[in-house]
Amino acid sequence: MKLCRRAQELAAYRGTVGFVPTMGALHEGHLSLVRACRSACDTTVVSIFVNPTQFNDPKDLENYPRTEEADLALLEEQGVDFVFAPAVDEIYPTPDTRVFDFGGLDRVMEGEHRPGHFNGVGQVVSRLFEIVRPNRAFFGEKDFQQLAIIRHMTAQLGLPIEIVGCPIVRDVDGLARSSRNTLLSPEHRAAAPRIYAVLAEAAESLRGKVSVPEAKRIIAQRIDAEPLLRTEYIEIASADSLQPAADWGQRLGELRCFAAVHAGPVRLIDNVPF
Ligand code: PAF
Repeated sequence: MKLCRRAQELAAYRGTVGFVPTMGALHEGHLSLVRACRSACDTTVVSIFVNPTQFNDPKDLENYPRTEEADLALLEEQGVDFVFAPAVDEIYPTPDTRVFDFGGLDRVMEGEHRPGHFNGVGQVVSRLFEIVRPNRAFFGEKDFQQLAIIRHMTAQLGLPIEIVGCPIVRDVDGLARSSRNTLLSPEHRAAAPRIYAVLAEAAESLRGKVSVPEAKRIIAQRIDAEPLLRTEYIEIASADSLQPAADWGQRLGELRCFAAVHAGPVRLIDNVPF
């Protein structure tokens, strides 16, 4: 495994190149992307870069877990070929002032609640694509909206990169794996599986039985019944356009239910097919 700090060190690839962009603090969710990448591509490149332009809250950036040594050991074990772990000025030699048009995909949910977040994601992912030049790139469905936005951006920029979405990896108690989970207190960690439990149960029992606004209200109420959790939003939206559903009869194709929930100072997101 070759560790590269500079873009020009990424050279001498073999065959098809797969890319897994990460912000480090790696967990089983990331490792599932690495495995998918390795089984589909000849060369696997993983980046570790905590991208400052996608944090709308400076405290969140400051507190974001950084565990590079452990991350490198895990990636070595997985048989990764290249790790790209640059400093900020390697990615942004000058401030990135590009503003992306994601065709409205960024106006709902995370985009609405974290202003500027997806523009920062667009900046870093397009820059990483330019440096790594992969044939395929792998992203987790936990960040479902991010995946849709990256697909849109890749097509818009005309990049010959296949974007591969991979299923959410959960702990045995159902909590979606996330780097932020390490920041949870033991009490909040014990409360957090309620998010998925409520979403999964609601997907079975509520569709078509109550109105969409009522379903969202019931889901938020059930999550917030746990005093250590506070729902920021629940949305039921098209899995393709991410447009919120007003009623079950709309022709939006497959629906998904999306949640953002605070567990103390930690903000968690999750989503399920609905
Ligand atoms: O999903 C993430 O970890 C990040 O948003 C990404 C795609 C690595 C860009 O910084």
